[in-house]
Amino acid sequence: MKYPIYIPEITLKEKENVIDCLDTTWISSKGKYIQQFEQKIANYIGVKKAISIHNGTVALHLALLSSGIKKGDEVIVPDFTYIATANAVLYIGAKPVLADVDPKTWNITANNIKSAITKKTKAIITTDIYGLPPEMDDIIKIAKKHNLIVIEDAAESLGAVYKNRMAGSLADIATLSFFGNKTITTGEGGMVLTNNQEIAEKAAKIKNQGISETIIYFHDILGYNYRMTNIQASIGCAQIERISSILARKQNIYYKYKENLEDYVIFQKINKHFKSSHWMVGFLLKDKKQRDGLIKYLADFEIETRPFFYPVHKMPFYKTKNNPISTDLSERGICVPSYPMLNEEDINYITSKIIKHITY
Ligand SMILES: Cc1ncc(COP(=O)(O)O)c(C=O)c1O
Repeated sequence: MKYPIYIPEITLKEKENVIDCLDTTWISSKGKYIQQFEQKIANYIGVKKAISIHNGTVALHLALLSSGIKKGDEVIVPDFTYIATANAVLYIGAKPVLADVDPKTWNITANNIKSAITKKTKAIITTDIYGLPPEMDDIIKIAKKHNLIVIEDAAESLGAVYKNRMAGSLADIATLSFFGNKTITTGEGGMVLTNNQEIAEKAAKIKNQGISETIIYFHDILGYNYRMTNIQASIGCAQIERISSILARKQNIYYKYKENLEDYVIFQKINKHFKSSHWMVGFLLKDKKQRDGLIKYLADFEIETRPFFYPVHKMPFYKTKNNPISTDLSERGICVPSYPMLNEEDINYITSKIIKHITY
């Protein structure tokens, strides 16, 4: 593909850091880059604790484990999200209750959460979908009223802002992903973020085999090996230094796509008090019958695209009731190349092909 959906930007600095890990032999999950990366992320987002972890999926699992969610509990999750958000709830043996999203912002809403609450509800996981957080103050208000924990799945929204607060700091706990297509990458990688000391300590312990603080090589709770390696963290340290530049370029890319396509397709509604990270540029086709044809047509010009996420309820191992808005978004949405190295000429080329196909 001439235009893949994503290409991570790797510079000399990432290479130097990785070589440093190899030269010093600190290649496993001990080494100076781990603490450095955690501190840099905590400072950037403005949270007290950042716990590095192997990927964004296990970050969600760890967030649920450390906030005490148990088998039989219910956790409200947006139906329109990446599968990992809901799967983490199944890993616990808890029940994901899938709530529909807003047709304009594509995000979970306080009202839909309200109608999904039962006596068994213990937590809500929100997703900052395609880089845009939901209306979090309304959600927190409901959560407080019902004594629920809120976990922000900020895998896609590093760098986004809601009412002057950074995505990743909007709930009791948040999770990040540093997969290769994320705003910054460590190859595979993730983070659990919180201001709550108790949750942070629990998360750090569970991710490290539940090891005792007082007895050497004794494991007093069930833990996992969810540790990030020093090599992953070294890449992250190099990446986070350039985050402003990456975000600025992604914002320009989004606005160029929007300028060229806004008469033909529908973009996500970004209200005034939000700033999206513009992780992946996506839009809805007015006529959903055109979507799959457009994907094939663009592939002929070596332009890679992605259909929007299937709603979680469609997966055979969920099989729950239809949420019509999530289904509709999934059938009409398409993501287009969104990597920071795209220039105006590239976007003009890609959008000219899109317009040609949908106006044919
Ligand atoms: C919303 C969301 N949650 C969780 C994840 C899982 O992250 P990872 O791929 O690092 O496990 C992703 C990754 O794409 C995501 O988009």
